[in-house]
This record gives sequence, structure tokens and C-alpha cells, in this order.
Amino acid sequence: MSIRTVGILGGGQLARMLALSGYPLGLEAVILEPAPDACAAPVARHIKARYDDIQAMETLCDTSDVITWEFENVPDKSAHFLASRKKVYPPPAALAVSQDRFSEKTLFTRLGIAVPAFHTVDSREDLVNGLEKTGFPAVLKTRRMGYDGKGQAVIRNEEDIDRSLQLTGTHSCILEDFVPFTREISIIAARSNSGETVFYPLSENTHRDGILRYARCTFNDPRQKEAESMIRRILNELSYTGVLALELFDTPGGLLANEMAPRVHNSGHWTIEGSVTSQFENHMRAVAGLPLGSTAARGPVAMLNCIGAMPDREQVLAIEGAHYHDYGKKPRVGRKVGHITVCAAHDAELAERLEAIRRLLPDS
Ligand SMILES: Nc1ncnc2c1ncn2[C@@H]1O[C@H](COP(=O)(O)OP(=O)(O)O)[C@@H](O)[C@H]1O
Ligand SMILES: [Mg+2]
Repeated sequence: MSIRTVGILGGGQLARMLALSGYPLGLEAVILEPAPDACAAPVARHIKARYDDIQAMETLCDTSDVITWEFENVPDKSAHFLASRKKVYPPPAALAVSQDRFSEKTLFTRLGIAVPAFHTVDSREDLVNGLEKTGFPAVLKTRRMGYDGKGQAVIRNEEDIDRSLQLTGTHSCILEDFVPFTREISIIAARSNSGETVFYPLSENTHRDGILRYARCTFNDPRQKEAESMIRRILNELSYTGVLALELFDTPGGLLANEMAPRVHNSGHWTIEGSVTSQFENHMRAVAGLPLGSTAARGPVAMLNCIGAMPDREQVLAIEGAHYHDYGKKPRVGRKVGHITVCAAHDAELAERLEAIRRLLPDS
């Protein structure tokens, strides 16, 4: 059957960029999203309902040829309900794994993928015992629902213990070694249901206050093959279809896996203008059963997130190589409201253009 309509659970900026990338291929998007002013609403058919609304999910099945999601905190039950009626990609098993930091790190370990040492924490006593193994500093995280650094705390000394527990609660957490990484990178891959797999060049990522600020496409990175071998194991284990991202810490001893995202990823937004086929298009191609496109970078490229508010459009667009992405969200402190991608002919030019854009960002 030729796929024409892709149902998406969630209607944020990722759904918006997925929908936009689908149109030239003849793919339309339908979003299931409770927010009336959802980012993707102007570019997709909108079913306004909760993610676990049975009737809405039935409508989604009736109007879609295949179903995917744009964020991993979709209720597990919804994914299974949908999968019992329609093809759902990626496989719902990938959701279950990525929703719980403990099962995620357990899977990585089983697949021979190195991770920071981790311990489950379900009480203050567990935390104290765990800290004996990790020492200070260590990172306490809720197992579920964390994003953009929310639901986690760095514990630097005894006094931090109770403060961190106030933040995370005493149940269902994990404690990790604090990794003094040399840099943070991510690998994004796409796999088709026939098992064809393509990898993007590694992205080098900078976070501030737990939020991604800056992502740069690397060229012939020495860690590329190591990262590909890690993500390939996960893709094959889960018989994955679609785009998968893996966040990594680079250390002198090798890469450590931090977390995976079974979806398109913020560190891959530069692929829209910076690579031959964007992560969004490759995800749509994969779920629609179409051949995957080249992931090659077109040249030096990087992305700056717009946090809190957008910079002035005219000023940004006056800078050559700059691409403006406004998600149409209301400004709010700490909120991702858009991003700017910058392309250039060589590294020095890229650095110059980035500097010019940074000066225009309200939050940098
Ligand atoms: N074990 C760790 N050691 C050092 N820094 C960490 C560790 N875990 C997380 N961080 C920092 O916090 C950021 C957010 O943590 P992450 O586990 O990726 O959660 P989120 O789901 O919020 O992205 C990471 O990108 C990294 O900068
Ligand atoms: Mg992360």
C-alpha cells in the first residue's frame, strides 16, 4: 500500500518539522495533541485530545496509514493500543526502554555499550549507599519524565543530599557517576524496516542549565565509527524503524552512552539545511517504507537554539548562511521557541557568522 498520511502522537516543533518535510514527498501529517495552539497545528490536521483518549486514537488510526510519535513520554498504553490496530514506527518497545533511565542503561549494558556507573535509588538509604560507590560529585535523576535537565540534581557534598531528594523525590531514581567528559556528542541514525541503516556525522553539543544551546556538525570525527557501532547495536536489537538519537559523553577512555531518544532530536536540526537529507525527511521516509536519503553534510554547519524568545528576524536573515526557524510559540523563560541554522563555506566563516548571530540572541 502506498502511504499517504502519517499520524503523529504529539504536536510540538518536532511534529511541525516532520510534517513540513513530508509534504514534498506527498505525505500529509495528522497530529494527536491536546494543546489547542500546538506548534504543528498550522501544518497538519489536528485531533485535539489527550494522548490516551480512546476515541481520538481510533480517529487517528482511521485517518493515518502509519503512526509515529514526536516525543517519548507518550503513554506506553497508547502506543500499544495504536500498534494493535495500525503499523506504529518506531516499535513501541523502544518507547518503553527510553521512558525509564534504568531500563535504558540496563539495555545499553547488555549490548556491550559503556555507560556511567549507575545505581537505583528508592530511598534516602539507597542514595547514601550509592554515594559510597560513586563518591562526590554524582548525579541523581528521576527514572521517568525528565527532559532538558529537569528532574535531576548534581550532588557535590553531604549537604546536597536532602536538597537533591526534594527535587527528585525518594522513589524511582538513579544515581550516576558524574562524568568529567571532554565534550558531549550525539549520533543520529535512521533505519528502514528492511534494515538499511544510515548515520549522520556526529553532532558536538553544548548545554547550559541542562538545555541544549548549540550543536555543530563534525567532519571526520575520530569517534564517528565507535558511535555508529553503539547505535547500530540498539537499532538491530529493537528491529527499529525510523530515526534514533544517542547522546554520548566523550572521555579519554572512550565513549559513554548517556541516553537515547527514539525520535528526531534537537541536536540534528542542522540537518534541515546542512545535509543532503534532513533527519525529519529520513524519519518520514523510514516510517512510510521509502528508501532512505544521503546523510552527508553539505559543508560546515551549526545550530543555535533560541531559548525564551526569538531574535529579530530581519537582523538574523541579514547574515548570510543563516536560516531562521520560528516555532510560533509564546515566549517564556527557558522555553525552546526556535532555532537558527548557519551554513558556511569554511570553518572560519562559520565561526564569524555564529558570532554575529549569538550577539542577536536575547538569551546569550
Ligand atoms: N552522569 C553525568 N555526568 C555529567 N554530566 C551529566 C551526567 N548526566 C547528565 N549530565 C548533563 O546534564 C545534561 C542533561 O542530562 P540528560 O541525562 O541528558 O537528561 P535530559 O533528559 O534532561 O536531557 C546532559 O546533557 C549533561 O550535560
Ligand atoms: Mg539528554
